[in-house]
Amino acid sequence: MAKIKKAFFCQNCGQESPKWIGKCPSCGEWNTFVEEIIDKGEKSKKENWKEQKAGQPQTLKLSEIEKKPQQYLPTDDEELNRVLGGGIVPGSLVLVAGEPGIGKSTLFLQNGLQLQQAVVLYISGEESEQQIRMRSDRLNLQSESFFLLTETNTASIFKEIKDLQPDIVIVDSIQTLQSPYVESAPGSISQIRTCTAELQQFAKASQTPVFIIGHINKEGSIAGPKILEHMVDTVLQFEGDQHYQYRILRTLKNRFGSTSELGIYEMTGTGLRQVSNPSEILMSEKDESLSGVAIGASIEGIRPMLIETQALVTHSVYGVPQRTVNGFDLRRLQLLLAVLEKRGGFQFGTKDVYVNIAGGLKVSDPSIDLSIVSALLSSYEDEPLPEQYCFAGEVGLSGEIRPVNRIEQRISEAEKLGFEKIFISKYNLPDKKKKAQQIDLERYHIEIVQLSRIDELYERLF
Ligand code: TYD
Ligand code: MG
Repeated sequence: MAKIKKAFFCQNCGQESPKWIGKCPSCGEWNTFVEEIIDKGEKSKKENWKEQKAGQPQTLKLSEIEKKPQQYLPTDDEELNRVLGGGIVPGSLVLVAGEPGIGKSTLFLQNGLQLQQAVVLYISGEESEQQIRMRSDRLNLQSESFFLLTETNTASIFKEIKDLQPDIVIVDSIQTLQSPYVESAPGSISQIRTCTAELQQFAKASQTPVFIIGHINKEGSIAGPKILEHMVDTVLQFEGDQHYQYRILRTLKNRFGSTSELGIYEMTGTGLRQVSNPSEILMSEKDESLSGVAIGASIEGIRPMLIETQALVTHSVYGVPQRTVNGFDLRRLQLLLAVLEKRGGFQFGTKDVYVNIAGGLKVSDPSIDLSIVSALLSSYEDEPLPEQYCFAGEVGLSGEIRPVNRIEQRISEAEKLGFEKIFISKYNLPDKKKKAQQIDLERYHIEIVQLSRIDELYERLF
């Protein structure tokens, strides 16, 4: 009888160990090791997709390798094309990670149905045929080249693939797949790894692009797609707040393009709508100006967008003042408050402070600091800022306003959207440093206010 191979795996980070251990040496989590059977000793895993040509391995000189232009299969979805680096690359394995309910299935069902010229196989282990049919009706899309398979066993899946010969395969989700060569339950580390390895071999051997959908939890990993990141060519993350309609598709890794790309969608009653002009939607509509609102000229990926930041500063009724954030880093807020307290002499120590980024977005661009500080000051003074003002600058620990990248792009975007004044750092030089030492203020119709410290900001605003 063949020997059964077992090992323990950390369900958090995928670390393997021959024996059970309490604390994972890799990620430091406790009680995460679970025993999994990795090989029943019957057949080699490779036989599941055998298309490999036996032959001599060959060492090549890099310069001898023929250069081929990258082939893309463009989709109708401009946002998806952008995050993929131009379109779908043949033979690529793409992981799409996101929290449950964010809209991953909707996005790929929609794209699969729109790809009329290609044979699309959508493998669903999560929803029934009926459910998917109902969803496609809701999306109001039909396609004659879209095939559905509700199956979780990889051996049966590859059999179907051989019969159908699809141009694109979508797997929803990797956590439901089960390889017959691994004993452990679907969703376990060894199953996820084996199934992905099988899909990877298939993608490379047949040059068929494969999209793998994977769930992550709020903390970002747990038995999850994180352990697959090195196996796939591209990692996309679909994120957003379920209570808001906007969703962001972000590239975390891409072997075929830049990782600073971003796609924005709006979840509507009939599927996801591409948002090609993000600035306009990110600012909430209002008739009168309110205190505690400031607009930040931010850059997400490589696209400039103007984002509304909101702050509420109230007298604290509890012993410990509250600090609550939505879409902004809490520690960053604490830092900004400390700077305002120490360098500006504002008394935030007795105030509750709430900060919110409109639209349920998460912003990581440091240029938003200046906008947050302005919103805080506006709420502190209970005086609205003029609606035509916007801000782009990082705030340093000594209260200085630091320069940010791509300043000209931000200024142009603000100008395009009709803002009258933009507040930036005095030290901000143009992007192409060699040509000019100063930003050409004359070039813009928008008034550019250059500041060096936050007390100057206060004087300018109030
Ligand atoms: P879904 O794609 O099932 O999420 P995931 O695959 O990431 O788990 O999307 C689920 C949510 O999207 C669900 O709460 C309903 C909503 N939705 C819409 O608002 N409009 C639509 O047209 C569709 C299909 C779904
Ligand atoms: Mg789903």
